[in-house]
Amino acid sequence: MNDLGSIPRSHHSSDGTPQPTFRLVADAAGISEAARLLSAGAVVAFPTETVYGLGADASDPAAVARIFTAKARPRFNPLIAHLPDPEAALREGVFDTAARQLAAAFWPGPLTLVVPVRRTGTVCDLARAGLDSVALRVPGNALARELLARVGRPVAAPSANRSGRVSPTSAAHVLADLDGRIAAVLDGGSAPVGVESTVVACLGGVPRLLRPGGTTRADLVRVLGIDLPGPADDAAHAPVGPGLLASHYAPRAQVRLGATEVREGEAVLLFGGALTGDDAALASLDLSQAGDLGEAAANLFAFLRHLDATGAAIIAVAPIPESGLGEAINDRLRRAAAPR
Ligand code: TXA
Ligand code: MG
Repeated sequence: MNDLGSIPRSHHSSDGTPQPTFRLVADAAGISEAARLLSAGAVVAFPTETVYGLGADASDPAAVARIFTAKARPRFNPLIAHLPDPEAALREGVFDTAARQLAAAFWPGPLTLVVPVRRTGTVCDLARAGLDSVALRVPGNALARELLARVGRPVAAPSANRSGRVSPTSAAHVLADLDGRIAAVLDGGSAPVGVESTVVACLGGVPRLLRPGGTTRADLVRVLGIDLPGPADDAAHAPVGPGLLASHYAPRAQVRLGATEVREGEAVLLFGGALTGDDAALASLDLSQAGDLGEAAANLFAFLRHLDATGAAIIAVAPIPESGLGEAINDRLRRAAAPR
């Protein structure tokens, strides 16, 4: 059988019938079953502190291929390998001084480090998209780390949504996109951070911010003592990845950013209180009435899904400051608003 022929088209039994997706409770039995399925090469969604991940054994190319099939992701983009602790991550990549400082300061937590791959590393070529670097992350929630420790191998996991859709922050979101396409989802409740991890490349020279996320730029600068160039400052050199494509995290509705008033028939996503005309909106949700960016990040994807489900043609979004987690929130909103 050739390479492509061995990639299953979806989550099917041997006679070709689609299988239901098991919803596993996050108790000892559920974690064991999730670990067993992952070790057997199946695709299992699991909670992290940022968003739900679509996991597969990162050392097994056939298992990793099933992630791309389930997401209907058109291209093989590099994936993040998740590890239970920093020691396991150090075995997969070569960490320079900056990478060590960042790992010590922020792991476990919402930071991904892209580092040169170790010759003895176990993350397969397909998970790395053939690059000689590897993206590594030790997630902040204990449930994910317990699962990863049980599996005992790096687990590749992009966000557990269909390609190009809004990222999931609950098991219900995962099932809305992927029911019948994956073996199971481990239900650990709502993801508290709500936006994906910050991706920083430490590949020699000054570390570069590849994707803003749950660890703020200000936090990185405090630890490194220098500012980081990012894709925005250095567009010509930005590597292309799923989180870096213009149209991504896209609801069905059109998204209108920086709205200072609400127009007829629009749904509205508020931040820190009312906008002119929002009483006439089709639906209205406030990311954080108190204007708290952490609360806003945690609510972002669930509220976008909710407003999208109202069937409004346009979701108007109030201005959100660029400071702190605002950089990641605005990055996701700009992608949601990008032309498709
Ligand atoms: O919070 C998160 O990071 C979530 C949870 C599930 O952990 N995962 C996630 O994965 O967002 P994904 O696949 O959606 O995003 C991976 C990001 C992409 O922007 C990709 O381009 C980048 O990491 N990336 C991965 N490997 C890379 C590499 N070797 N070089 C440059 N960028 C890389
Ligand atoms: Mg994603």
